[in-house]
Amino acid sequence: MSLHYDLLIRNALVIDGTRRPRYTGDIGVRGGRIADVGRLQHAHAEREIDAQGKIAAPGFIDAHTHDDRLLGSDPAMTPKVSQGVTSVITGNCGISLAPLVTASPPPPLDLIDDGGAFRFADFASFLDELDSRSAATNVACLVGHTTLRVAAMSRLDRAATPAETARMQALAREALAAGAIGLSTGTYYPPAAHATTEEIIAVAQPLKTYGGRYVTHMRYEDDRIVESMEETFRIGREVGVPVIISHHKVMGSRNHGRSAETLALLARAGAQQSVCLDCYPYAASSTILRADRIALSSRILITWSKPHPEFAGMELAQAAERLGLSQEQTVSALSPAGAIYFSMDEADVQRILQFDQTMIGSDGLPHDIKPHPRLWGTFARVLGHYCRDLRLFPLETAIYKMTGLTARNFGLEERGLLQPGYWADITIFDAGEIGDTASFDAPTQPARGIDSVLVNGVPVWQQGRGTGARPGRLLRAGGSAERAGND
Ligand code: ZN
Ligand code: CU
Repeated sequence: MSLHYDLLIRNALVIDGTRRPRYTGDIGVRGGRIADVGRLQHAHAEREIDAQGKIAAPGFIDAHTHDDRLLGSDPAMTPKVSQGVTSVITGNCGISLAPLVTASPPPPLDLIDDGGAFRFADFASFLDELDSRSAATNVACLVGHTTLRVAAMSRLDRAATPAETARMQALAREALAAGAIGLSTGTYYPPAAHATTEEIIAVAQPLKTYGGRYVTHMRYEDDRIVESMEETFRIGREVGVPVIISHHKVMGSRNHGRSAETLALLARAGAQQSVCLDCYPYAASSTILRADRIALSSRILITWSKPHPEFAGMELAQAAERLGLSQEQTVSALSPAGAIYFSMDEADVQRILQFDQTMIGSDGLPHDIKPHPRLWGTFARVLGHYCRDLRLFPLETAIYKMTGLTARNFGLEERGLLQPGYWADITIFDAGEIGDTASFDAPTQPARGIDSVLVNGVPVWQQGRGTGARPGRLLRAGGSAERAGND
């Protein structure tokens, strides 16, 4: 018997995304999907990849991104495919590009703006554009509550009125009907900080009908973190949907070590309802520049500044010295701006990464002048530094946290596993070589050790460079293929 494939990966060490131990095998790809996995000696194909001595894993799914605009502005998605990522979840932290038309989005929405990015009056037209202009990776989208607030409210320094809440709920329903996979919130940020728990429960109602997820950058990640987690669990219970806690961390030196407490709380909640979390593998965070983080951080690095772009990459303390101002005054002088905050405990980061329900998400900020290295380094750092070098978990577990677990938690059908019938999103890498090279000083560097990256059966990264192919698809809730067939 002779089998014919479009593409054949030979002699790989297959890690299938379920946590099952690796085994040696070949992978036959046909029509963008995995046709067979196993010993395929007599098979032949249009093209072959010899993966002798290398790992073949499902393509990594970045559980937490702000790539909403990057997909259009840099469809090669180089920061992502260079580290083996084949699908991204956008619209996190309450921030989505749609549905909102404005020339001057308030922070933090400006993290993804370029002066004209917020131009979609409804979520369907945003998704249709993603669908028609494909990128190198697949994408699944969340709709952001902060975006809804800016779209529906006359002012943001208060809770929504019943009419505004109803408007946001209607916009959320439209987004989910169009194919959004969930709703995100960012009550930590000023435009959503005055939202009550009841407002969020009301806006999130349509999630239940559409099988969506509630994803949150919580109100507090420092002293009041437990209170924020309780609020999050309550929203999930009252709406009746799975909860995903974004970039779980505990900030400020007086809270160091408290991940033992928060993870115990998560485990307890998980016995009653569906809860999971994502995490990036660094003890420094990054977002807009805020004065209230000065006291929480041992060191602050500027990532961008509109009035003073020349300060990108500089320490806040140093910028303050240059300007002859206090650090608080410097924050005002540089804003709008972004920063990196060294405010976490390494032991907490490791404990959270090891937690059973933790997915890997970069939270990378692709439009920053001098971004946090997590944008380019997250996945390779987990596999190299934390898995191989520090032995936090076996490689099978590390892969599961970036593939099978993530696909299941976000409801991404036929993704995240190396299994016949699944889409052929595949990352081939050298387990001994893999590692992050992006650093705080030089943050935009591709990972080491990535051999080939396939999206829907098409190579997007080979021999250390992008191939130029853009086989990525929009992953609509409920399955794009069926939907396209029915319309
Ligand atoms: Zn966030
Ligand atoms: Cu984020």
